[in-house]
Amino acid sequence: MWLRNCWQVIAFAREIGNAPLARTACGEEIVLFRTQSGTAAALADRCPHRLAPLSLGRVAGEQIQCGYHGLCFDAQGHCVRVPGQDSVPRQASVRNYPLVERHSFAWIWLGDPALANPETIPDVHWCNHPAWAVSDGYHHFAANYQLVNDNLLDLSHESFVHEDTIGNEAVAEAPFTVKLEDERVRMHRDMYDMEAPPFYQRTTGFSGRIDRWHTNTFSPPGLHIIENGSMPAGSTDKSAALERKVLNFITPETATTTHYFWAVVRQFSIDDQALTDYIRDGIRKTFDQDKTVLEAQQRIIGGDPDRTVFPVSIRVDAAPIQGRKLLASMLAREAGAAPLASARG
Ligand SMILES: [Fe+2]
Repeated sequence: MWLRNCWQVIAFAREIGNAPLARTACGEEIVLFRTQSGTAAALADRCPHRLAPLSLGRVAGEQIQCGYHGLCFDAQGHCVRVPGQDSVPRQASVRNYPLVERHSFAWIWLGDPALANPETIPDVHWCNHPAWAVSDGYHHFAANYQLVNDNLLDLSHESFVHEDTIGNEAVAEAPFTVKLEDERVRMHRDMYDMEAPPFYQRTTGFSGRIDRWHTNTFSPPGLHIIENGSMPAGSTDKSAALERKVLNFITPETATTTHYFWAVVRQFSIDDQALTDYIRDGIRKTFDQDKTVLEAQQRIIGGDPDRTVFPVSIRVDAAPIQGRKLLASMLAREAGAAPLASARG
């Protein structure tokens, strides 16, 4: 059901402090914390003694201490102290997950730790680079993560779900292309001579008709890098274009719930804090609209396996179908790989 041998965003790096933070990813309950020296760590969120969640405990120096009987674990998950005795039981360790802070996110590796190579963390450096302004946020969706992937690979829904923000009917009517490139699906749509949707008017200053394009590059299991551009309709001067990227980090929480981290980055008017705030609020409202639709969709699907196969497909499903096929092939490959060799706990 879930790809594990990959890096996934589990938090904004800024969320991890010295108060333990409980977060579930791919059905695994995890505690995140930062030690006194600044190391961010991810451990299974249960003390091996009586299975109390470590997230109810506290961080003490370089260790996390269980809030029930005071057992202390280092950032690697090794038990280093048991109050009232001199020795530490041999089995008293908890699983440690590789965790790397990069580009303002905390990336976790839920699979075989021996395969966790930080070099393969996706490059989203725009999220903390001085040349880019960032508007970011988080949504929790009570919907399976594949519904969220479908939603992002089929942006024709902007015409119907987001007509008061980023869409209008011209989006769904425009042709698009879908390409499978290595382990990515790329969906691209050009929209010529369209009325600027409300959000575009405010964020670009283009009040008349515009030419607009968007490309979503999807890397399973849940990274969508959407590049949006627009310029006055008919302009041949590409330097008149204003472009932004919408980074979407989709991490399964459970079979029916999803973490949705997002960031909109731009290189124009980067010192305009009011614009940064407007984009954040506009995107939050836009994704609230997706949340309403996807959660209702999940309620209809429920746990019925027959309802995960949709009875009808239309043209705009081309990219979501490619996305699901690619993910399925990667899941099958991972399922065929050797079982966890070096995971502890
Ligand atoms: Fe949407």
